[in-house]
Parts: sequence; C-alpha cells; structure tokens
Amino acid sequence: MAAPLSTPGVFGPGDLDGLVWFYDMYGYATLRGVLSESDVDTIEAECVAAQQGVVAGDLDSRYGSTVFIDEAAKAEKFANYVEYVSEVSPAVDSAIAGPVMRDVMRRLLGPDSWLRDHEQYGVVYQDARPGKESGYTRIGWHSDWQSGPSLDVWPSTAFTLHIDGTSPANGFLRVVPGSHLWDTPAPYRNVNGVAVPDTAQPSGGRTGRKPPFEMPLGFEKIRGEVGIYAERGDVILHDAYLWHSAARATDDNTQRRHVRGGYFGGTKPAAGVEEFIKNAAR
Ligand SMILES: [Fe+2]
Repeated sequence: MAAPLSTPGVFGPGDLDGLVWFYDMYGYATLRGVLSESDVDTIEAECVAAQQGVVAGDLDSRYGSTVFIDEAAKAEKFANYVEYVSEVSPAVDSAIAGPVMRDVMRRLLGPDSWLRDHEQYGVVYQDARPGKESGYTRIGWHSDWQSGPSLDVWPSTAFTLHIDGTSPANGFLRVVPGSHLWDTPAPYRNVNGVAVPDTAQPSGGRTGRKPPFEMPLGFEKIRGEVGIYAERGDVILHDAYLWHSAARATDDNTQRRHVRGGYFGGTKPAAGVEEFIKNAAR
C-alpha cells in the first residue's frame, strides 16, 4: 500500500508549492498520485514491448544499443535499456510531458525549460534487475552534472518514473539532502577512469559553497545521506547537482524498472551533439 502523502518529501499534484519548497531545500522530491493505475499498466506494457523489440532486433538500433552496457556479451541476449523510449511509447510520452510535469519543471527550471526527449539518449527505459542475465552494474556516488561539465544545458532536473516500487530487496536511490547547493568539482578522477574534457567547468552547483567533504569514488556511507524509496507510479525528481548513488539489490530474483530522463533550463544542444560522458550519465 502506498505510504500517505505526509511521508517527508512526497507530494501530490495538489501541493506543488510544497514540492518546490522541499526540492529547493533538499535537491529532490517525489511526485505521487499523478498517474493512475491504468496509466502505469500501459507504460509497463509499452516499455516491456519495446524492450522485447530491442532484444528481437525488431526496433531500430536507435532505441537499443550497448552504450550503457558494461558487459557487452550480456547485451546480446538481454537489453537493460531502451533509449528514446518516449518515441515508441505514447503512454510514457504523455506521462513525462503532461501538464503537471510541465508545471513543476517550469517552476524549478524557468519558463524556457525543455525536455530532453530526442537528444543524447533521450528518455530511457531502464531494467536495472540484478540477476545473472543482466548487464546492469551498480552506480556509485556522482552528480548528473558531472556527466557533462563542459555543456551549457544546466541546470537540470532528472525524473525517474517508477514501474516497480523500490526497497532494499530490489535496490533504491541514496541521496545527500542539500548537496545540490554545494559547488561540486568535476570528476577529474573517478572509478570509471573517464577522461574529463579540457573545456569542462571545474565545479558546478546551485551555489558557490564548497562541499564540506570530498565526494567518495564508490559506495561509501556519507554523513547525512538518506535512502529514497519509491512506490509504483511515483516520479522521483532530483537536481543535477545532487549527490546520489544506487544501492544494490539484496535479492537477485527481483526487478527494478523505471523510465528516466531530464528537463533542462540551459541551452538546448544542436542535434547530434553527444558530449555526455556516457559512463557518468547514468
Ligand atoms: Fe545520476
């Protein structure tokens, strides 16, 4: 059963003022109650069909590739991702671009905010199951801004529309509340060994205040961090400057499927620009 809306950080469409207040303070918030059960059922069906289309090779390669897969061999028989999924799922498209989402994003990012739906992987369906067939791996501490420190698309708010609720069993989001206010350095060293372009800004955050401690490279416990659990149909919003990571599932026989993407408040890139550091963009 869904937790009541009085859960800290969880807001319904009737209290967007509360959601914006919480988000501005802590860098994240959950939007609950916008999608009906049948909306989520349709989103699930269309995403699963698209995923099967990628595995079968029925969908154009635009929608499925090994770009996010760490172990390419596994990608031949299983697809953890469908890219640009809003182009093949009308239910996803209307959920992420509906009036409530647009209203929230205008309030968070300004009147000219735009949805990244046809650029840079677009909106992605992610099947982050932990089992043996999966090529999905855990994601250590990062801010999404660190995936593109030389771009001028920022600020940004990421959304994650949950098809499966989350728990310790299937994995969940860890965040450091308020860390979006810190001026976090670009990842000049990171666990993936990804080169940072010369054009990168040295640091990024909602204010110029320095972080009180260095961002860990992996999954270390951070002072002040909290776990964010989602119910089916919830949309978690988080700031691109927020420190976050994903906790690994404790049960390999579970699923954690969601649709994720972002709205941006900066300059929209020209078509075909692919400057995101792919390993950090997840
Ligand atoms: Fe992220």
